[in-house]
Amino acid sequence: MKILVVGGGGREHAICAALKKSPKLTELHCAPGNGGISETAVCHDVKATDISGMVKLAREISADYVFVAPDDPLTLGMVDALEAAGISAFGPNKAAAIIEGSKVFSKGFMKRHGIPTAACETFTDAEEAVSYIKARDSYPAVIKCDGLALGKGVIIAESFAEAEEAVNSILLGGKFGNSGKEIVVEEYLDGSEVTVLAFADGKTVVPMLSSIDHKRAFDGDTGLNTGGMGVIAPAPYYTEETAKLCMETIFEPTVRGLAEENRRFKGCLYFGLMLMNSGEVRVIEYNCRFGDPETQALLPLLETDLIDIITAVIEGKLAELPIKWRAEHSACVVMASGGYPEKYQTGFEIRGLENVDGACVYHAGTKLSGGKYLTNGGRVLNFVAVNKSPALALENVYREIEKVSFEKGFYRSDIGTLYHAQRGTMCGTLHHGGTSAQCTTKK
Ligand code: AMP
Ligand code: GLY
Repeated sequence: MKILVVGGGGREHAICAALKKSPKLTELHCAPGNGGISETAVCHDVKATDISGMVKLAREISADYVFVAPDDPLTLGMVDALEAAGISAFGPNKAAAIIEGSKVFSKGFMKRHGIPTAACETFTDAEEAVSYIKARDSYPAVIKCDGLALGKGVIIAESFAEAEEAVNSILLGGKFGNSGKEIVVEEYLDGSEVTVLAFADGKTVVPMLSSIDHKRAFDGDTGLNTGGMGVIAPAPYYTEETAKLCMETIFEPTVRGLAEENRRFKGCLYFGLMLMNSGEVRVIEYNCRFGDPETQALLPLLETDLIDIITAVIEGKLAELPIKWRAEHSACVVMASGGYPEKYQTGFEIRGLENVDGACVYHAGTKLSGGKYLTNGGRVLNFVAVNKSPALALENVYREIEKVSFEKGFYRSDIGTLYHAQRGTMCGTLHHGGTSAQCTTKK
């Protein structure tokens, strides 16, 4: 099997590492890739959003499968273009990727199919939105851009003044360009967040292990929202009972609803969920792809050959494939450039990677230059360890991350600890399939 992975972040490095474990793999390519990925796969200088360039590359290397990982090529229709050229691709087509590409669509979709989510209204007119917020008079108010905005298009406004400023900057000030031509104003949901990724083949949906992302930049969940600063998997409070409820009220109705609307979803569906204190679960957001950095924490726990899963998804045979996970825990901590998620500098030398021996390191924003790794993005490295408990996995990660440094680099020191404050200790039986196995760590 020759596989081409589209993308160039930590998620794609983890996907490449998982594919590399398969005895079925003969050649691994990635475009555009990054410094770390270039040690695992042949990297090609084609942008992730360059649809015709990617089709050409897939043809040139005779790729059996193209794994389209990021949101923008999916929402732009890269899978449609590949399929039209007779190339098999993992990922939803444009019609199905709209579940992430438009929040106005996804909120309407949930309404149509009775899938629980925050109540909302949508607006294109700033004055109408502001009057609605004023009349509602309930804070925090949540304001979301319709389109993709690198995880920054959600504002949790604590007061009317903040909400008004957010609405005006998006609808009048054009802060998010076309992504902000329409907005969603929705009720604030209070509870514990959990991410569940699921494989879907258009008919069958198979949830992976749950995970907890840490979206804020700094310790104590302070600072701006980022793409994600760290993850633990599985989520200690995602019980068998909650998993069953999610399957019945959210996962199955979503895949069925999309198929009914002629938007068959094939690939990885991302469910951002809020476990409410009442026991109810509501959808915060859908993504049409693997999460970043959730993937870095999850894939090291996957026992089943990822190529077998890709094949089952593409051929619509997921129902026939048992998917197994290690009965262990994973922790991922992101090392980022000082200033991220706002302005940051790049080009700093990364030191100490050769000393890491107790965690996997997945590169996000790095490049290789003259035999050295240099920083080349906001999120730079992901440190991942697997162990018998979340505490042990975190201990490993934090021991290893201290061995690596670059100028102005920072990471959160409290990944995986806040859930105790949110939910107390674990309740019920943890949803965790699979059998125990050793984690193979590597640099
Ligand atoms: P999203 O891009 O929709 O995932 O939103 C980013 C983050 O904002 C989520 O991970 C939540 O932490 C928060 N968020 C979004 N919508 C809501 C909501 N309705 N209530 C509370 N928090 C929210
Ligand atoms: N970690 C959040 C996301 O991938 O959207």
